[in-house]
Amino acid sequence: MSKDSIIDLKDARFRWPGRASFALSVPEFLVEKGQSVLLLGESGSGKSTLLSMICGTILADSGSVSVNGTDLKTLSGWSRDRFRAEQIGVIFQQFNLLPFGSVTDNILLPLKFAPSRRKRCHNPSRQAAELCQALGLPEGIASSKAANLSVGQQQRVAVARALIGAPPILIADEPTSSLDELAQSNFLDLMFHQVAAQETTLIMVSHDPRLADRFDRTVHMNDIATIQRQAS
Ligand SMILES: Nc1ncnc2c1ncn2[C@@H]1O[C@H](COP(=O)(O)OP(=O)(O)OP(=O)(O)O)[C@@H](O)[C@H]1O
Ligand SMILES: [Mg+2]
Repeated sequence: MSKDSIIDLKDARFRWPGRASFALSVPEFLVEKGQSVLLLGESGSGKSTLLSMICGTILADSGSVSVNGTDLKTLSGWSRDRFRAEQIGVIFQQFNLLPFGSVTDNILLPLKFAPSRRKRCHNPSRQAAELCQALGLPEGIASSKAANLSVGQQQRVAVARALIGAPPILIADEPTSSLDELAQSNFLDLMFHQVAAQETTLIMVSHDPRLADRFDRTVHMNDIATIQRQAS
């Protein structure tokens, strides 16, 4: 584990199973605590696969992936889920909301498994409502089922769920893809405010290189990873 790196990948490899397999290999990728990183790369270059390895939703086949000093392969599936809930606010590319849960249920969900995040929220329900308001979700939406929201509204709920309780790390996979320009800029302001106030480490994927100015560092997939595609 390199000094001060909160995210530390060494010789990490992952191959998706299946007939048309895709393999990602990351010789070294280090992110310092408190750093904000914009991750760029063409579609299919393995950005979401890399983020899934960092979140521990998939486990590297070889090499090491350490997050805040813990090598993810040393954790069982259950403890990896809890570790993720505590350490990482994740905005998945497909949002992954509970469709039958309300907006509030979805936003508060990670706190159930993350006592430290919960402790940072003095009043979780009020905090959820404040995040909704800051993200421009209409008032009165709190009890609506996630499945009944527009795609842009669902994305904002996913954003609120990632930010609540200020986890030390934020992983955001194209978090503004369904937002209009104003909502996008509101979200980025809110996120960077939290990142600065809490010394949050941020990795965000986007297809918009114009955002680079807002980040400490821009990384291109070509610079940190090699990929192999095999059609069979
Ligand atoms: N769940 C999966 N099962 C099998 N193969 C997958 C799966 N997810 C991704 N892949 C493979 O990994 C490759 C890289 O996908 P990935 O989603 O990591 O790319 P990406 O850079 O995030 O692309 P995009 O910009 O379109 O989101 C895909 O081309 C696909 O072959
Ligand atoms: Mg992706």
